[in-house]
Amino acid sequence: MPTITVSEAHQHIGQQVTLQGWLYNKRSSGKILFLQVRDGSGVIQAVLGATDNPDLFAKASQLSRETSFIVHGLVKEDQRASIGCELLLTDLEILHQPTEDFPIELKEQTPGFLMDHRHLWIRTGRQVPVLRIRDAAFHAFREFFHQRGFVATEAPILTGTSVEGTTTLFELDYFGEPAYLGQSGQLYLEATAMALGRVYWIGPAFRAEKSKTRKHVTEFWIAEAEMAFYDHKASLDLQEDLVRYIVTTVIEEKAAELKELDRDVELLRSEVTEPFARIDYGDAVTLLQELGHDVAFGDDFGAPQEASLGDHFGKPIFIERFPIEMKPFYMKRDPSDRSRALAADLIAPEGYGEIIGGSQRVDTEEELVSQLREAGLAVEPYQWYIDLRKFGSVPHSGFGMGLARVIAWITGVSHIREVIPFPRQINRLYP
Ligand code: 4AD
Ligand code: MG
Repeated sequence: MPTITVSEAHQHIGQQVTLQGWLYNKRSSGKILFLQVRDGSGVIQAVLGATDNPDLFAKASQLSRETSFIVHGLVKEDQRASIGCELLLTDLEILHQPTEDFPIELKEQTPGFLMDHRHLWIRTGRQVPVLRIRDAAFHAFREFFHQRGFVATEAPILTGTSVEGTTTLFELDYFGEPAYLGQSGQLYLEATAMALGRVYWIGPAFRAEKSKTRKHVTEFWIAEAEMAFYDHKASLDLQEDLVRYIVTTVIEEKAAELKELDRDVELLRSEVTEPFARIDYGDAVTLLQELGHDVAFGDDFGAPQEASLGDHFGKPIFIERFPIEMKPFYMKRDPSDRSRALAADLIAPEGYGEIIGGSQRVDTEEELVSQLREAGLAVEPYQWYIDLRKFGSVPHSGFGMGLARVIAWITGVSHIREVIPFPRQINRLYP
């Protein structure tokens, strides 16, 4: 008897099989028992009649939710089931039966309670398809770059300097010296790009963000790429191809999960079909004013402004050429207007906010030192980074993507904490 997963069951119609999993839910008409068996790959209904096997019926009837077990049965075609089949139960071995009720009910519970039980909540409902979609998005990101000959690399997590400003640094004691958890791998990726040409990574990023919005966590996996000999425009074209690839690949590979989540897949697909919008920061300010927002040149856009732009364009929007004061020290100035940075943020539609931040990088020692000073940063800890401009400096560009925000947009969940197995927020370090 082959041991199979639920996702493989439809290939075994008419066969006797073994499945290993947990009891997700149970319902009985008195005469027929329906066990929902989950194994991580899916959920299958196992059916048993009282008269088929009275001993087995009695044993299965008293199982509590989340009992782990091995079940044996015959796979039968059933067009009503989303997986196209069910299991006629013939035997069952209990591995572990809980003595307490499983705390996560299959009806609504408060977000606080669910977050406190995140380690158990992830077994239920929308959490499983969301985490499976997360896997597909990570895979698509890596595959996109692998196919294009980029080299996967890593940046350190323990660092001596800031990348994205000093206000969101987590500081720690490194043998008596201050050190910081990395906010982005960018500076190190610039160095590896000068060694390897074009590089990418997905790694942890930490931000001591005081914001309690639905888009901010204090720890997230940043997905970054850095390209020697790419200018700003070439980088935007790559970012656009990347986002389109991730979204369309996930739609294709995770159709069943997206259906389980009731995601409007046609809307999602339509958002990435056409070329993305590209708008100058100044024009975005004017447009927002026309749309009734109280914003002025030099302001950062908040959630309402980003949502408005998303509604207006109905697709992702690059906001380009921010005033240089609004952005970090490493961005190259636009030669045609030195008050602006050769940078862009990519805003997702449907209110999911900024999913990518990127720029062309400063490539002369002189400009970099002057921009570090303007940012009020000490030059000495950045000496290694300045060195990259002393030995064969080349034009180069890169970007960082918040994959959790991309996955939130793809899945349609309302808060990015739902797409992270164990989210870290300003008020949450447990479980
Ligand atoms: O825009 P950010 O700060 O850019 C950088 O870190 C650059 N060094 C990246 C680069 O050029 N290599 O962060 C990049 C992206 C944002 O667009 C956003 O999607 C996400 O990371 N992000 C967050 N996601 C969740 N929680 C937070 N607190 C985030 N902060 C940024
Ligand atoms: Mg940003």
